[in-house]
Amino acid sequence: MRTIAIINQKGGVGKTTSAVNLAAALAEAGKHVCLVDLDPQAHASLHLGVSADAQGTSIYDVLIGQASLSDVRQRIVDNLWLVPSHLDLAAAEVELAGEVGREVILRDRMLSDAAEFDFVLVDCPPSLGVLTLNALVAVNEVFLPLQPHFLALHGLSKLLGTVDVVAQRLNGRLRLTGIIICINEPSTRLAAEVKRDAKSFFMAVDDPACPWFGARLFETCIRRNIRLAEAPSFGQSIFEYAPHSNGAQDYRQLAEEVIATSTEYQTGTRHSRSYSTR
Ligand SMILES: Nc1ncnc2c1ncn2[C@@H]1O[C@H](COP(=O)(O)OP(=O)(O)OP(=O)(O)O)[C@@H](O)[C@H]1O
Ligand SMILES: [Mg+2]
Repeated sequence: MRTIAIINQKGGVGKTTSAVNLAAALAEAGKHVCLVDLDPQAHASLHLGVSADAQGTSIYDVLIGQASLSDVRQRIVDNLWLVPSHLDLAAAEVELAGEVGREVILRDRMLSDAAEFDFVLVDCPPSLGVLTLNALVAVNEVFLPLQPHFLALHGLSKLLGTVDVVAQRLNGRLRLTGIIICINEPSTRLAAEVKRDAKSFFMAVDDPACPWFGARLFETCIRRNIRLAEAPSFGQSIFEYAPHSNGAQDYRQLAEEVIATSTEYQTGTRHSRSYSTR
């Protein structure tokens, strides 16, 4: 099972669009997939047609110990399951603040969950608070979506610092394995520059114990495509809403790349854990 958190504390870079449509593409390719919506905005849930206003239980109930993952998980289409979010989740940040071990709750719930998936994807909020920490402790991999605009890499050191601390103190298996260029305008110079900067930044890492050593900038860049922006309002993934669009094509191709890397990453034990803080 590959467990992947989609993280960037910058807002609006394509986290949810990627989490939903990559999950749907993997499911379409025959993989058994669970998407966990860990954002109080509940955009991933809405994107898949699950209303955040409904009275149903959500990841909030799981985190406060009132429900198990299997209680709240919903089947969306063949092979695709969703653990929905709810606006209540915003309160979890405050409610969990005083609890010992608050960062490991999701990991423990996932460990006690009997269901087996090929992929678990976690859509995270645009912050590095307790919810994102729960995701980083629970998963083996991080995918970083980047929107190629000015300041795309700004704030990256804070994000990587957080990944590093979690990897050292709470989750020795954690690796940043993939960078996804989202909302790409292939013809612009800026897009090429951001890609080049990201590539040279990650390729410069030569310490195999570093959590982002060997991180892959996916060849597939997700082009700006209006169908991707329209699909959420119909409560559908791009594969239901516009299966022949550029957006569907890009996420299908990305899923193929992700599947192709599976043997490399599935054990989550590529490197030793002995490294000092940089
Ligand atoms: N490739 C794309 N082409 C066109 N629009 C896109 C594309 N990817 C995302 N969008 C749109 O850009 C906006 C931001 O995307 P998205 O919600 O996925 O970002 P996010 O990082 O999850 O945001 P937040 O930080 O608020 O959670 C949305 O309106 C979405 O529909
Ligand atoms: Mg989002």
